[in-house]
Amino acid sequence: MEVVICKTKEQAAKLAADIITAAVEKNPKLVLGLATGSTPVKMYDEMAKAAKKRKISYRAVRSWNLDEYVGLPGTHNQSYRYFMNENLFKKIDIQLKNTHVLNGMAKDPEKECKAYEAAIKKAGGIDIQVLGIGSDGHIAFNEPGTSLKSRTGVVYLTPSTIKDNARLFFGGDMTQVPTKALSMGVGTICEAKKIILLAFGENKQNAIKGCVEGPVSQFCTASALQEHNDAWIFCDEAAAKKLKLRKYYAWRSATKLGIAL
Ligand code: GLP
Repeated sequence: MEVVICKTKEQAAKLAADIITAAVEKNPKLVLGLATGSTPVKMYDEMAKAAKKRKISYRAVRSWNLDEYVGLPGTHNQSYRYFMNENLFKKIDIQLKNTHVLNGMAKDPEKECKAYEAAIKKAGGIDIQVLGIGSDGHIAFNEPGTSLKSRTGVVYLTPSTIKDNARLFFGGDMTQVPTKALSMGVGTICEAKKIILLAFGENKQNAIKGCVEGPVSQFCTASALQEHNDAWIFCDEAAAKKLKLRKYYAWRSATKLGIAL
């Protein structure tokens, strides 16, 4: 696991966007795993800016998103499909038919999840998976107590996640946040060839501590990334503050990337 500790979240977002942009440039048929939440927004902006400036095409890129709320149609302005259309897909030339978000309205959710996994497999697997992290250490919607081998399925949100998500979305109203979601499993996520996790701000300190230096445990599902051989954590100084070896990680990752942080 590499931990890149940047002075600002803007710098982290730009570095992560550069990695994805370079990968799309090298392989126009790249398969991306994408995440929602407030954290990746700036990175998506940077990807769109770079695509425009350097004429990088996403026409043949395919994407699979991590999760979706149960009961929200893609047209709902708090659905993750809507979020992706607004924050990334509209800004690049990706073909909407090549973008995949789990259908939160599926009549048979288990069937929907199985088909989703099969489609990822058929595409050759995810080349780069983008992740945020919940304040309780979850990735996608894999809450504490989820098997680290879990596959895509129906999941149940914790009260703390409902509170976090209401604060940033749903106009602050907890009663509007669905309590269930469809989510890629931890096992599914860990099959991606490369993983880029972004985490900014004090609110993510404990989650990043658990992810990077905690035991590999169901209680912080992001800790499963410790066993991935190409996982990159991009965070700002606030999110990295509780890491014991933060100076070492910062030096090592900057040296590997060939940059000064
Ligand atoms: C939700 C999403 C996660 C995301 C998390 C953090 O729970 N399912 O994928 O990482 O929120 O969101 P934010 O980036 O807004 O803090």
